[in-house]
Amino acid sequence: MGRSPCAVDEHGALDRARSPRRTAGLGVSLVGLALSGLAQAAVEAEHMEFGVLADGTPVPAVELSNANGVTVRIIALGAAIQSLRVPDRNGTLADVVLGHRSVGEYLDKPQYFGATVGRYANRIAGGKFRLDGREYTLERNDGPNHLHGGTLGFDKVLWRIESVTRGTPGRVVLKHVSPDGHGGYPGTLEVTVSYTLDDLDRLTVEYRARTDKPTIVNITNHSYFNLAGEGSGRDIMGHRLTIFADAYTPVDETLIPQGPPRSVAGTPFDFRQPQAIGARIRDASEQQLLIGRGYDHNFVLNGTPGELRLAARLEDPDSGRVLELATTAPGLQFYSGNFLDGTSIGKAARSYRQGDGLCLEPQVFPDSPNRPDFPSARLDPGAEYVHVMQLRFSTAAASGEQVTAR
Ligand code: BGC
Repeated sequence: MGRSPCAVDEHGALDRARSPRRTAGLGVSLVGLALSGLAQAAVEAEHMEFGVLADGTPVPAVELSNANGVTVRIIALGAAIQSLRVPDRNGTLADVVLGHRSVGEYLDKPQYFGATVGRYANRIAGGKFRLDGREYTLERNDGPNHLHGGTLGFDKVLWRIESVTRGTPGRVVLKHVSPDGHGGYPGTLEVTVSYTLDDLDRLTVEYRARTDKPTIVNITNHSYFNLAGEGSGRDIMGHRLTIFADAYTPVDETLIPQGPPRSVAGTPFDFRQPQAIGARIRDASEQQLLIGRGYDHNFVLNGTPGELRLAARLEDPDSGRVLELATTAPGLQFYSGNFLDGTSIGKAARSYRQGDGLCLEPQVFPDSPNRPDFPSARLDPGAEYVHVMQLRFSTAAASGEQVTAR
């Protein structure tokens, strides 16, 4: 992988001035802080080349890293998180997301490791939907249904890196224009994805999109997390998960929501208190777990969509690593990595098997375009689609009781 010196764009100074910790009137005292050595350390940004496409086109990457060692590598292919290194309770770093080492593996495998998925993340029943009286037909790439934007969705796109900012925070912005009719979706869709890393170990991911015709949009990140480390040899069954949702959407045999949302109370879908993922996953009396071969369901998040609020908390009791996930989206797909079958090879040259990672995908509910009773995925010209999600990393004491945010 080739490395070149960090490029700092002309917005660097502006971004530093917008540091979340800095408030009006603090400018002068910051000088004092810098002199006393207490000023915030800048988040570094480094350009590199991740690999090349079959035709020789380079696939650039950008790595953002903060003073705590938290380092995220974004590759232009799929605007994906290719690696994400965070410390455990002793300060030891590990890469907590699944991913591949080479461009070819990302193109060959349909696992969506770390990718930006769209135009419509999750499933659309029968690959069909109606908008303003007209029926649109999408690719059926998951049995009878459409999944994650089709076989040439956003995860297969070589995104353009728009800007890279070193500072506090550090940021990379990627852009893609999806032509009208691509994959069967109406409207030219202009999409930007930004990844922002701050010195409080928060990675904020923001999606924005505009269209020139009425269309549907649902964009999310498809990282598979393993807080023990993707190369640790440990699966996620012992991770303790909390999901702030009173209801979920039960599915049919093809994983399309059926009927109204169902209360999680008294079921293996109740994650309102922390639960080990493996504790109930093999409960054969729960038909929904048999259908999904584990968890592969959308949770109806509590709180108000549009507001950034906590959706889930994931903790690995052994390493103490904690991930809190906040989102503005109405739903969260919890997928326990059921279809990992040993055919994908990870960064540590180990094969990934069932339960080696789990996805927490904030989104509009599956099949919303066919469900007037679900929150809408519609986007009209003149309006802007905005989805913000935030990954907050910290560590917990060995008892699992006490959380120490950095
Ligand atoms: C879906 C799974 C699917 C996986 C593909 C997840 O978002 O919920 O059903 O197999 O993506 O990687």
